[in-house]
Amino acid sequence: MTLSPKDSAHAALLELARDLTVRAGAIQRDRYETEFSIDTKSAAIDLVTEVDRACEALIVDGIRSARPDDAILAEEGHGQDRPDAAIRWIIDPLDGTTNFAHGFPRFCVSIGIEQQGERVVGVVYDPLLDERFEAVRGEGAWLGPRRLTVSRETEFGRALAATGFAYDVHHSDDDNLESFRNVVKSARGIRRDGSAALDLCYVAAGRLDAYWELKLHPWDVAAGFLIVEEAGGRISDFRNGPADRSGREVVATNGPLHETLLGQLVPRKS
Ligand code: IPD
Ligand code: CA
Ligand code: CA
Repeated sequence: MTLSPKDSAHAALLELARDLTVRAGAIQRDRYETEFSIDTKSAAIDLVTEVDRACEALIVDGIRSARPDDAILAEEGHGQDRPDAAIRWIIDPLDGTTNFAHGFPRFCVSIGIEQQGERVVGVVYDPLLDERFEAVRGEGAWLGPRRLTVSRETEFGRALAATGFAYDVHHSDDDNLESFRNVVKSARGIRRDGSAALDLCYVAAGRLDAYWELKLHPWDVAAGFLIVEEAGGRISDFRNGPADRSGREVVATNGPLHETLLGQLVPRKS
């Protein structure tokens, strides 16, 4: 079995998202550990490569030619704002740019789709492992033929958790270090692997039990949030309010560990 949505509109959106993630992923696989240009964005540690831009151009061109009326929010700025559009695509063309730039093999393509503001489709593709995580609202989260469910862990001391640090970490006091310390001291282990979209998918797949991060962006979470929800996981902000699609404060767990993790996190000050 694989994910095959009953709703034909969702099936068409999923098909296009699958095709574009896999084609962008192929560019990443081809260009991995080759020479490419690297620029900086908001800080000296916030990188963008020519491969990020090439992947985004491929995805945005593909959406524009198949569905010219849809809105597109894309990290590197190739999107198109259509305030009245029913469908909005939210794209991280290469999540894990620092890893990609260093030849560290953990990065992906992430595409989330909203319909009238509701998350309906999410696809995250890891080109090196050839793993495609996907979800459609009401139809579950899938990794190829496998339907995903979150872990059943109930003891935080046996949990594997993950987090990340924002690109302003060198100078901001809101640096996630106190939360990091709390979790290091109480969980079985912690990972900082450098791809928020894959971290969310790994919670969905039960590879991680819990994940949190501050100061993410809509493109980091648009697909992963739906994949976690459809795998039976829980998402929220740091005070257990509804998950914020801006990515400002992100908590995703298997459910049973949610409150324990929240108790260890320091909410964002600004
Ligand atoms: C980053 C990654 C990283 C997270 C950063 C993100 P990018 O995205 O998801 O894991 O810690 O906050 O900005 O820049 O590689 O697309
Ligand atoms: Ca990202
Ligand atoms: Ca990116």
